[in-house]
Amino acid sequence: MKFFIDTANIDEIKKGVEMGMVDGVTTNPSLIARENKPFEKILKEICKVVDGPVSAEVVSLEAEAMVKEAKVLAALSDKIVIKIPMIMEGMKAVKKLTSMGIKTNVTLVFSASQALLAAKAGATFVSPFVGRLDDIGQRGMELINEIMTVYRNYDFHSEVIVASIRNPLHVMDAAMIGADIATIPLKVIEQLAQHPLTNIGVEQFLADWEKRKK
Ligand code: G3P
Repeated sequence: MKFFIDTANIDEIKKGVEMGMVDGVTTNPSLIARENKPFEKILKEICKVVDGPVSAEVVSLEAEAMVKEAKVLAALSDKIVIKIPMIMEGMKAVKKLTSMGIKTNVTLVFSASQALLAAKAGATFVSPFVGRLDDIGQRGMELINEIMTVYRNYDFHSEVIVASIRNPLHVMDAAMIGADIATIPLKVIEQLAQHPLTNIGVEQFLADWEKRKK
């Protein structure tokens, strides 16, 4: 299972990289806006420290304009993957970019039918948002199950990035289903490592060590 880190913050990315937990990065316009730095500068910094795909999202809503934006972003590094919203114009853009050899990540996916279309258009990655579905009382993880089933049925090669992850259970449920990738905020990566019995065990070992006969 690959772990991507869901942030545009370079310090968070470096922390994740040091732990060996970053196989790629996903950003979105909201995450970029938090950083108060030019978009291209942020992307270049990220590409320097990460050995893997780095998703950068377009903001146009027409296919032609999306492709134009995508070409500029893709020219920054061969690690850049173009994030495209799951709308019909987006599908046109994905088809065009795929034919040009530019990788895509179809985002804001909330149904298996949308994921089917994204795969047919040739998306490299698709990003179903589990947390935002949970937020409105729908089971986000059921969507991951459905998408994995559809992709396996037809041997689609788009990789599923479980996105909008809010807690360790989202990651572990995605792992049990066999999703290709989870894109995870740093806080949740750290939560995955924690267990109270580990802390108690470490304290006990150190206390016994101090008591030993010297
Ligand atoms: O990057 C896309 C996705 O992971 C956003 O998550 O928490 O804003 O729903 P969230």
